[in-house]
Amino acid sequence: MIKDKIMNGQFSIEGKVAIITGAGGVLGGSIAKSFVEAGVKVVALDIRQEQLDIRIKELTAEGGEAIGIVGNVLDIDSLEEVSKQVVAKWGRIDILLNIAGGNTPKGTLAPDQAFFDMPVAEWEKVTSLNMNGTVYPSMVFGKVMAEQKSGCIINISSMAAYSAITRVPGYSAAKTAVSNFTQWLASEMALKYGDAVRVNAIAPGFFIGDQNRAVLINPDGSLTDRSKKVLAKTPMGRFGDITELNGAVQFLCSKAASFITGVVLPVDGGFSSFSGV
Ligand SMILES: NC(=O)c1ccc[n+]([C@@H]2O[C@H](COP(=O)([O-])OP(=O)(O)OC[C@H]3O[C@@H](n4cnc5c(N)ncnc54)[C@H](O)[C@@H]3O)[C@@H](O)[C@H]2O)c1
Repeated sequence: MIKDKIMNGQFSIEGKVAIITGAGGVLGGSIAKSFVEAGVKVVALDIRQEQLDIRIKELTAEGGEAIGIVGNVLDIDSLEEVSKQVVAKWGRIDILLNIAGGNTPKGTLAPDQAFFDMPVAEWEKVTSLNMNGTVYPSMVFGKVMAEQKSGCIINISSMAAYSAITRVPGYSAAKTAVSNFTQWLASEMALKYGDAVRVNAIAPGFFIGDQNRAVLINPDGSLTDRSKKVLAKTPMGRFGDITELNGAVQFLCSKAASFITGVVLPVDGGFSSFSGV
């Protein structure tokens, strides 16, 4: 019956268990909300306890299933502990969203600052969080997926991985590494486990978040010169709304994407397609 087929929609992710790193943040929070609304059991993982408390209140307010666990994506022991807790509670790990990441204010070169004066400590912080912070959770939670012969990992790349974006050298290098790692791990998993464990990424275009608000929006609410350049190269002519990432993530985690692995899907209003001319 058509009705049964509609109900069993191949885009459904209902009943899955998902770990979302960086769930205390803007993008992670939005995707976590869309996941509980899709019937997913969500493990919100973040380094900030107080932010997690707020998030879990939001996620469970209307009956969503979610727990918050404080963890550090750069600490394998901390991730092993999370893995044990999740498997003890829900028996499996179906989905890993590697969302913890981003830039730091000092990781962005000032307009008049030379590359030669780049603070090396910030370079190390930003490259480690975005690159190792994707690799380490994939090692720990991906192992559970390989053992249970099913799972799906989604990483977060960036427009900075396609062509150069000024002033953010560490972030650009690390997100390029995330795109490459997505292809590498997808190949590795498929060669070893067939279609059991898929690995993909999304590459968000420009969304106003806590980390980039100051470089995109002036204190009086007007657009900075940088955001005018962004919009000029975005054929849709606007910033994204963070909720516009949710569908792409759900699709890549669903049965509808069962033959898709190793892709980096831009969600960018056309930014990565357009030469600007
Ligand atoms: N906002 C955008 O426009 C945009 C665009 C492209 C890509 N991204 C990417 O999306 C992701 C999320 O961005 P956001 O804007 O939501 O950032 P955000 O700062 O709001 O959220 C990041 C979260 O990660 C957590 N975190 C930081 N270090 C951690 C660690 N070591 N262990 C565990 N958690 C840690 C933070 O506490 C925070 O809650 C990042 O990878 C970012 O690079 C964002």
